[in-house]
Amino acid sequence: MDALQPVRGTRDLLGEDHRRHAHVVGMARRIAGLYGFDEWATPIFEDTRVFSRTLGETSDVVSKEMYSFTDRGGEPVTLRPEGTAGVCRALVSNGLTQSLPQRVFYAGPMFRYERPQKGRYRQFHQIGAELIGPSEPLADAEAIALGRDILRGLGIEGQTVLELNTLGDAESRDAWRHALVGYFSDVRGGLSDESQARLERNPLRILDSKSDQDQALVADAPLIDASLTAAARDHWDELRRALNRFGIAFRENPRIVRGLDYYSHTAFEFVTDRLGAQGTVLGGGRYDGLVAAMGGPSTPAIGWAAGIERLSMLLDDVPEAPRPVAVVPVGEAVLPAAIGVLQALREAGVRSEMAYRGNLKRRMERANRTHARIAIILGDEEVARGMAQVRDLDAGGQQEVALAALPAHVRSLLG
Ligand code: HAM
Repeated sequence: MDALQPVRGTRDLLGEDHRRHAHVVGMARRIAGLYGFDEWATPIFEDTRVFSRTLGETSDVVSKEMYSFTDRGGEPVTLRPEGTAGVCRALVSNGLTQSLPQRVFYAGPMFRYERPQKGRYRQFHQIGAELIGPSEPLADAEAIALGRDILRGLGIEGQTVLELNTLGDAESRDAWRHALVGYFSDVRGGLSDESQARLERNPLRILDSKSDQDQALVADAPLIDASLTAAARDHWDELRRALNRFGIAFRENPRIVRGLDYYSHTAFEFVTDRLGAQGTVLGGGRYDGLVAAMGGPSTPAIGWAAGIERLSMLLDDVPEAPRPVAVVPVGEAVLPAAIGVLQALREAGVRSEMAYRGNLKRRMERANRTHARIAIILGDEEVARGMAQVRDLDAGGQQEVALAALPAHVRSLLG
């Protein structure tokens, strides 16, 4: 029979890949906790409208990347392409819209039907943080500070640059969109086919185009700056002051528009040049209209998400595989003693394992394969005296130790 393969764009996380992944999540969870964030876990699939209503009908994610299907009961459901919409849905469903602010951290798989390449998968994983309630630019800065501190904790801050933009409020954006449509309509023939289509559906996305043909025209496109209302400009000025107060360096990039449509005011991305085309490791912004779009009251919010696969690829310090203690019984008769030793070690918090079969040589080979740090060898004669041989597999020495003293002895050897 054919060996079955993982679905295109999905990956197994085994061994070192999983350790990198767990390290990222563990670090993020710890630092988010220091910032007062609580962890939520929302369902991996939702009513399709949770996403179609909020991410933008014309966004790439909604128009061509969602894993949507009708379930056996006839309900239209979608595997979540991102985490923010579900968090806002949960805020409303759980009656928390009057209990603000909410500081929410999450980690888990997301699904987008994109063309797979390095750093881009169809099932990928995000860590994310949402700060729901505050409208102050100080909150934007604090959310960004959390992202920065997680990158710092992972030792990859230096490989990234924070790029920052404002998308203004609805009024600013309407004026800007109008200016963009005017400008691009005049040069329409010079745009790629895809951007010509965007001109009708979502002109802001032309700014995000990767095509060289478009880039030349994008360079001279009107900037939002000229269209900002006084209130939007205040938020933008305050934000940059607040980032300075947090000691966060940033580069203004007026071309950041983000791929989802729910953003207003702040938009930001930590980007790297070490991952080729998929250089955005962490992205987010303010989404003051999303909770209302979910049927809740008008509620300001700011947040971000980062791709765990991309963060993992940047890690220099790979967490090492934990090394076990190998318990090596020599013969059937000492099996009860060996099981007793295993249990005592595990109760003492020591990772330990036993090879089930084979002679001493085979079992020692197995201990080496698991990269065991210590072997505890249990022979008939020693066990009869209540003793075992403890071999240090790195230093090479061997010592006889009383069975009852093994957990304490092993722990002191392990440091
Ligand atoms: P996003 O920019 O669509 O934003 O995704 C955030 C991050 O997820 C990206 O910067 C990237 O690192 C990772 N990512 C996205 N798609 C893929 C993929 N196909 N394969 C691997 N990694 C990927 C959001 O998802 C928003 N919910 C962020 C947010 C939270 N805004 C406000 N709050």
